Order: sequence, then C-alpha cells, then structure tokens
Amino acid sequence: MSDIKYSFGLWTVGWPANDPFGSATRPDLDPAESVRKLADLGAWGFTYHDNDVFPFGASESERQAGIDAVKKAAQESGLVCEMVTTNTFSHPIFKDGAFTSNNRDVRRFGLKKVLRSVDNAAEMGASTFVMWGGREGTEYDNSKDLHAAHARYAEGIDTVAAYIKSKGYDLRIGLEPKPNEPRGDIFLPTIGHAIALIDTLDNGDIVGLNPETGHEQMAGLNYTHGLALALYCGKLFHIDLNGQHGPKYDQDLVFGHGDLLNAFFTVDLLENGFPNGGPRYEGPRHFDYKPSRTEYLDGVWESAKANMETYDMLAAKAAAYRQDPEVQAAFEHAGIFELGQSTLAEGESFDAFMADTSVEGIDVDAAAERDYGLVKLHQLALKHLIG
Ligand code: GCO
Ligand code: MN
Ligand code: MN
Repeated sequence: MSDIKYSFGLWTVGWPANDPFGSATRPDLDPAESVRKLADLGAWGFTYHDNDVFPFGASESERQAGIDAVKKAAQESGLVCEMVTTNTFSHPIFKDGAFTSNNRDVRRFGLKKVLRSVDNAAEMGASTFVMWGGREGTEYDNSKDLHAAHARYAEGIDTVAAYIKSKGYDLRIGLEPKPNEPRGDIFLPTIGHAIALIDTLDNGDIVGLNPETGHEQMAGLNYTHGLALALYCGKLFHIDLNGQHGPKYDQDLVFGHGDLLNAFFTVDLLENGFPNGGPRYEGPRHFDYKPSRTEYLDGVWESAKANMETYDMLAAKAAAYRQDPEVQAAFEHAGIFELGQSTLAEGESFDAFMADTSVEGIDVDAAAERDYGLVKLHQLALKHLIG
C-alpha cells in the first residue's frame, strides 16, 4: 500500500448486511478486532459512531469498556482514531429527528448524546467530529414548521461548536449532507445547502463539511465540483469516499466501483490540486462504504482492500495524466491556465473598465469559432485511465 493516509469507519466493515428487505447475512464483528485487521491491511486510521463501540443505553461501565477496547487496539496496532461521530438515527427515539424532532425532550436527549460523543472524540485524540443528520427531515411537507426546523438544526450545530470551544478541544465539525434515505427529504441535502446554513452560525468557523461521494450523486450532482466549492469556501474538513451509480438508493459501493470517471477526477483533485493552485484537502482519505450483502467475511476484507487499491491505482494514473506534456499543452490550449487570471486587472476601477474600448474590440467571430479542444483533453484523460 502507498503512504496515503487511508481510514475506515468501523461501521463499514462491521455492517452485518441487514437491509429493509432481509436480515443480516454476516455475523457482527468485534470493533477492536476490526481495528487490528484494518491496520494489518495497511490502513492508517479509523472512525466510529458511539454505538459502534457500545450499545445504545449502555451503563457507564459498559460504555467505558467499549471505548477502552478500541483504544487499546488502536494503541497496539498504531491505527489512528481520526474522527468520531454519533448515532442519532438507529434508535426509534430518533424517528422524527434528533436536533429537529418535534419533541423537545428528544432534542435535549439527542444534544446530550452528541456532546458526550464530542467528549469521547477529544479523549480519542480525533481531529474531526462528523454530524450526519439522517433522521433530520420529513416524509411530508406539513410535518414540521420548516423555519423552526432549520432554526433548531442551526441551534443544535452551533451549540455543539460552542461546546467544543468552551472545552478547548482541538476538534472541527464536519456536516455530512445527504438528500434522502432514510427520510423522504433530509435537511441540508447537499454541500451547498450546508455551506449556506454554516454561514448563519455564531461558531461557524469550526463547522465545515464531510461530503460523501454517493450522497451528492444521489442528488444528481457532481462530487468533484462539490469538493471544489467546499475547498473554495475553506470548508472541506473531511471526506467520505465511496461508489454510486447515479440517482438511486444509497449504494455505498467501494470507491471507484460506481462512477469511475468521476472517481478519477476526484483523486486527481485530491492528489494533484487545482491546475492553477489554490486550497488543498489535507485530511485522511476516509472510506464510508458497505461490503455488498452477497459477501461473507473474506469479501468484507477484500472489499476494504479494494477501496485502497482502487485509490492507489487512480492516484498513479492521475499523476501520469498531470505530468503528460500533451495534457499540459491541451490545458494551455483549452484556456485552463487563463481561467486562473482575474477578469479585472488589479486595482482596475469601474471607470477605467467602462472606458476601456478594447473590451468591445474583441474579435466576436473568432471567439465564437474558437475550438477549446475539450473533447481531445477528455480523451487524453481516458487514455490515461483505461488506455
Ligand atoms: C450513509 C451515511 C452514514 C454516515 C455515518 C456518519 O451512508 O447514509 O454515509 O454512513 O456517514 O453514519 O454518521
Ligand atoms: Mn452513504
Ligand atoms: Mn457517510
């Protein structure tokens, strides 16, 4: 395996493959064993929900025993706990949401569950705290006062951020958008929606995004574009990589096993950055996938390896693509470097701009007839990918 920092959710390999139509096809795994196994496979880090390591309703001693078991496995194997999150979706108490439930007592219960997870994230030395609000949403548009629901969601997120600051924890929050499933419509369905809400928070400086490949694609959106916007806004705090074939149920396939071309350009962005420079994602390459229900235990670990192997292969292809002089010439021809220049000159006044008659002097026909060579450029990418 390469020296890329790969990380896995314990719930990924640990999914026993129960779905709405059938029961589990695999036994439950011991989370501490999964930590050791992932380390053996060459992963760098791991992540978990509170209830991946101790059950909902656990006593204080059961809770600490669950945490201590994964902590010990992490120390012994050298696997880094880089992110912790909270399960606010499995138990029936959260059927109408945690931060946005119509029941205020449930909201207070959910908030405290999340804050206890924040304490645990700090105890584990994690740097990111993810919040995926899977039950924050509705099936019917009249189920909630939609203004109040967004206000409660913002209040909840802001409270978690304020708590982190009050404790002096070195943690940042990554909100994870998803358009639907399990709710008919989930609040903060896309990267753009989440960025807009973050902008309204008092403590939004430590709140960013944890975008998942498949979730953007479920919304018919382009994951790589979403990562680019989050980077532009300084909000790409963490990532969930996986595979998805377009707008359908959440497939959580192995990374690259869905839209392979988009996966190639995702890796190209993550590993090589924007062609004109700019902000880079520095965090772990985190996989949030599900080993398919057809697989038994060998298949679980094969699929975990497949995520890292696919990413490694794409990283090698993307490096060769970027270094290819033909690609660089095609970038130049397409105007990709020209797009890095600001449209107005530095310090150019409105008066000077409006008085500049060379703007109208553009050769309209020549500009209209310009061939950008984008198909050729894309074909070059394909040659690198599958040639
Ligand atoms: C999904 C989500 C979840 C979250 C995870 C973190 O597939 O619907 O990705 O897996 O990432 O629960 O809270
Ligand atoms: Mn998913
Ligand atoms: Mn996810």
